[in-house]
Amino acid sequence: MRDVRVLSGDWRFLKADLPVETAMRYAEQGEAVTLPNTWNAEDGQDGGNDYYRGRCWYVRELSAEELTGERVFLEISGAAMTAEVYLNGKKLVRHEGGYSAFRAELTGRLAERNTLAISVSNEDNDTVYPQKADFTFYGGLYREVRLISVPAEHFELVKDGTPGIKVTPSVDLDKHSAAVTVETWQNADAVEMTVNGETRRVPSVDGHAQAEFILENVHLWNGTEDPFLYTAEARLDSGDAVSTRFGCRTFRCDPEKGFFLNGRSYPLRGVSRHQDRKRKGNALNLEDHEEDMAIIRELGANTLRLAHYQHAQEFYDLCDENGIVVWAEIPYITMHMKNGRENTLTQMRELITQCYNHPCIAVWGLSNEITAASAVNEDLLENHRLLNDLCHRMDSTRLTTMANVFMLETDSPILEIPDINSYNLYFGWYLGEMSQTDEFFDEYHAKYPDRVIGFSEYGADANPAFHAEHPERSDYTEEYQALYHEHMLRMIEERPYLWATHVWNLFDFAADGRDEGGKHGENQKGLVTFDRTLRKDAFWLYKAAWNKREPFVHLCGKRYENRCTEKTEIKVYSNQSSVTLYVDGVRIAEQEGKTVFCFSIPLVGEHLIRAEAGNASDTMCIRRVSQPDESYLYNKSATVVNWFDQDGLNPDCFSVQDTLSELRANPQAGAVVNAMMEKASASRGDVADAVKDNPALQRMMGRMTLISLLKQGGADEESIKQLNRVLQGIKK
Ligand code: GCU
Repeated sequence: MRDVRVLSGDWRFLKADLPVETAMRYAEQGEAVTLPNTWNAEDGQDGGNDYYRGRCWYVRELSAEELTGERVFLEISGAAMTAEVYLNGKKLVRHEGGYSAFRAELTGRLAERNTLAISVSNEDNDTVYPQKADFTFYGGLYREVRLISVPAEHFELVKDGTPGIKVTPSVDLDKHSAAVTVETWQNADAVEMTVNGETRRVPSVDGHAQAEFILENVHLWNGTEDPFLYTAEARLDSGDAVSTRFGCRTFRCDPEKGFFLNGRSYPLRGVSRHQDRKRKGNALNLEDHEEDMAIIRELGANTLRLAHYQHAQEFYDLCDENGIVVWAEIPYITMHMKNGRENTLTQMRELITQCYNHPCIAVWGLSNEITAASAVNEDLLENHRLLNDLCHRMDSTRLTTMANVFMLETDSPILEIPDINSYNLYFGWYLGEMSQTDEFFDEYHAKYPDRVIGFSEYGADANPAFHAEHPERSDYTEEYQALYHEHMLRMIEERPYLWATHVWNLFDFAADGRDEGGKHGENQKGLVTFDRTLRKDAFWLYKAAWNKREPFVHLCGKRYENRCTEKTEIKVYSNQSSVTLYVDGVRIAEQEGKTVFCFSIPLVGEHLIRAEAGNASDTMCIRRVSQPDESYLYNKSATVVNWFDQDGLNPDCFSVQDTLSELRANPQAGAVVNAMMEKASASRGDVADAVKDNPALQRMMGRMTLISLLKQGGADEESIKQLNRVLQGIKK
């Protein structure tokens, strides 16, 4: 029999880089912790980019009754980022990579008394990814640690953290059947395999056994509508046994028609997720994962990009059970490291080995924005080719993809490597106008009609405390985020060829290097707050568009109570076709429509607003105030915009309101602007280089007004005014 024990309690934690002997000697003085655990739950979420990145120890005694089997293995499901396991002071294994499982055999090294000492480090280095990215690299034993005791004859446990069993379903849609190949690895002569009630005894040759089972009238794994799962079991005469669920489905992508599931068009529309929570960091438990899945189901998304690394097995299981199609990836991100190649291959091999049986996974992501801080050179290209080949060698049933940074030229050779591609675009947030997203995809699709393209990230930061009647880019208001997503939702609906689209991000998450938008250490592009307690208005937009199950109506702007305008916009999101609005109990208007319903009402005093759609309704209170509520404003410099509005400027002369290409078209104004850009780019190193010699991006930037570029670059009010004075001195 196989005996699995979770080692959650009785650990001692030492936050110090010590020799193993010292760690064992002083373990008793260490902090008593239970697993899962991370040492960055606080300092990794409070901004300042100063969280503890170092080496720490987890020490625990193993009692005799825990060591039951003829052979005993230790399984570590997640140790970030690099770990070394010692038993009684002897090193058993070193593992580089913070997101995949690994195991070490204890048998033959056990003594009367046994001390387990595990060092874990999230130190900076140039070999283990990630090293540069917009999220906190939590350190710790942040997933379960288990003891696995098995008979002498047992299924493979060590190689790449394998489950010991691999299932490859091949579906024939016409015959409505599936050929299911089951493979196992063991040190025994034969294996008893069972699929769908059929049991077969299969010989094992060189430690490998394989058999094919035919499923007639196959019950397909059919996305959110019907995520049907089968189970495959394998058993040895010794009593050791393994099993896995699997699903029978087919995926394919078409450059013109997008994604297909089981032969039918199935546009993938969803979100991305990081594996962390407020106050907990990445030390999550099953309830946390289940709550996240419930929110994803409520939203109505049918796909998830699990970024930027391998997530917990429990979460892939939930995606299998809920029919969510998954983009899985390794943390090969932002900056290519010439000493990191081996680590990318190891992380990918472990990802595929450990997640292969999950029917939810459709694609393997090779990298994310790897050209953001690195030039496209031969070493980077070769690394991607090797990863791509590895994926195809290990898994002929899935596609490879990549998430590309917005400034990557669309004729870059790197785009030729994966089977399909997607872009991360932030026009309308980090730069430019929202409409430039439409232009980008139209240009790309027209130029490369045979290429499959997707939208792997898009989003805008919003702090639910900030509000505006006339929201604008980078004001961090809930209203601007909603407007931004309304645009992107329309843009996506008009372009069904996009194989998949993933909102960045479903939840706010920790990025300790951030201090903006009125919060520290958080990326606030979530549709839901970091602690999962608040759904921002944009959440309800996607629910209205994607969740057709539960009729609902949502009044936007509930937190924007104090309004100092004569009239105000009342926006309603609903998945119903008509919405009726009441003010102070009086029926004001009824509107037929889809997803977004906008009303304008006069504001005189305190008002009770009610929206109805069928049996669904929602209410809120708003009031007229004489002065703008300062607490709603993040960007104090927002008033600068007022200073720069049209009637303050001499239209016959240039100003910061003119676009870059208009200014550059004039030698005098162009000289002023180029001098300023030179100075700015000198401080921005590789990103600026990538921008400078990227014709596509130059074209995009040319269409931007100088003021939005300056604000994007964080220029202060005084230098903007100064530059404007100079430009106002130059006649058009
Ligand atoms: C990038 C990156 C994300 C990051 C996001 C952002 O595209 O891939 O990891 O969080 O931009 O800036 O919000």
